Amino acid sequence: MAAMKPASTIYWYELLWILPSLALPVGMFAVLLVTAFGAQIHLPGIERRVNPAKLDSTPPFDHPGVVQLGAGRYEVHMVGQVWSFDPAEIRVPAGAEVTFLATSSDVVHGLFIPSTHTNVMLLPGQVARVTARFDQPGTYPFFCHEYCGLGHQTMSGQIIVEPAGTTAAAKGN
Ligand code: CUA
Repeated sequence: MAAMKPASTIYWYELLWILPSLALPVGMFAVLLVTAFGAQIHLPGIERRVNPAKLDSTPPFDHPGVVQLGAGRYEVHMVGQVWSFDPAEIRVPAGAEVTFLATSSDVVHGLFIPSTHTNVMLLPGQVARVTARFDQPGTYPFFCHEYCGLGHQTMSGQIIVEPAGTTAAAKGN
């Protein structure tokens, strides 16, 4: 019996390491399930596919700009191209929830709005969809953050968030 004691001590030490190493991945998998199916947090998916050569005649990209969907809700139809965004200036009132539908007419671009969590790639042929809220009035720059050629560093724009109640912003575009 005396020989059993050290063996059982080692067994408990091993168990002390084995249990957390099982609990960690099980816990992380549980967090993944809760965020994906409980909190509905997903990566931006492909909204739909379009022909990048025919954006001029493909709604809504044939009329890039800001559209008001409802009270405080806006949709921006945006085209990225070498080396600019259309529209490059977006005006919304404070508190606006803005959904960006964006694509590229030529090469791979990006849409990065540092003041929000917005960070998507604009791939020719695919439409990216991402929603952001703008609560504080101010000017929020956005950038192309995928290297797209010689003028990449000039590809930017700005979102002007006006104090709520400003009629020009409420009408959009
Ligand atoms: Cu467009 Cu970089």
